[in-house]
Amino acid sequence: TRPLKVALLGCGVVGSEVARIMTTHADDLAARIGAPVELAGVAVRRPDKVREGIAAELITTDATALVKRGDIDVVVEVIGGVEPARTLIRTAFEHGASVVSANKALLAQDGAGLYAAAEEHGKDLYYEAAVAGAIPLIRPLRESLAGDKINRVMGIVNGTTNFILDKMDTTGAGYQEALDEATALGYAEADPTADVEGYDAAAKAAILAGIAFHTRVRLDDVYREGMTEVTAADFASAKRMGCTIKLLAICERAADGESVTARVHPAMIPLSHPLASVREAYNAVFVEAEAAGRLMFYGPGAGGSPTASAVLGDLVAVCRNRLNEATGPGESAYTQLPVSPMGEV
Ligand code: HSE
Repeated sequence: TRPLKVALLGCGVVGSEVARIMTTHADDLAARIGAPVELAGVAVRRPDKVREGIAAELITTDATALVKRGDIDVVVEVIGGVEPARTLIRTAFEHGASVVSANKALLAQDGAGLYAAAEEHGKDLYYEAAVAGAIPLIRPLRESLAGDKINRVMGIVNGTTNFILDKMDTTGAGYQEALDEATALGYAEADPTADVEGYDAAAKAAILAGIAFHTRVRLDDVYREGMTEVTAADFASAKRMGCTIKLLAICERAADGESVTARVHPAMIPLSHPLASVREAYNAVFVEAEAAGRLMFYGPGAGGSPTASAVLGDLVAVCRNRLNEATGPGESAYTQLPVSPMGEV
């Protein structure tokens, strides 16, 4: 069987880990897919940086030329941000590639446009890594629960802010000190404002709500409050009430079933609640579905290796589809339920 060619866009915390695992686990991946996968090019911004384990001739600064090559089977986009990622992904579809992306900001802003482009060209768009790092969540919502009716998705979807809140609560660390540590551990976004002001969690809430309720939810539809104003005094009062503070994302179907809401804000959680014991950069998401009942998804929500795990899972799925000349689930937005500005807090 011919090798499947993969172009990697971005070689930061996540990308370098994807490249490393592709190389070290090449035989396993080939066995699972049914054909070898070959790293055909890696687009980076800084070519002079030392990248262990990646052949120098694979490195390029011209991402556009790489996705236009025409012989690429799968483009893995881990550069983040809306542009140039969106144009590169669209160009990839036009030139015959399927796409695996970890880009929550882009999917929250233009998921519908990207789905449409993928469908137009008969290609796949997978993005398990965009929400909650290693935790399988997108695929369970899109596939395993596709026959059920989901009424609520709620939880902790940003590792950086959970790490900061956890440190402030349990060690009395200051906000800045905890943020610096989260950045050093590779959890925070390139601009951590996206984490601490709740934009990252809001983008994830938009993606989850869109899939869960089969409608279109964009970042602007999500009510958002960050956690920069949470203080040590807030933790002290929470503690007196037997609570802690977490940044939650809550996506709900209205009781009458006629609309949906999505919101992100800090919330007091009783210490007896399972979300209270979610530590460090872990994420946890509850899903309530009519037939299934209550499900909980829990695991590492940020960081190079956990996110790379989700990317590689998508890569395997997309490669298998490719070999079968099939595509996975496409656009799921079909009910078009309106998104209300905000439900009750
Ligand atoms: N900055 C994100 C977080 C990375 O802390 O959760 C994972 O999406």
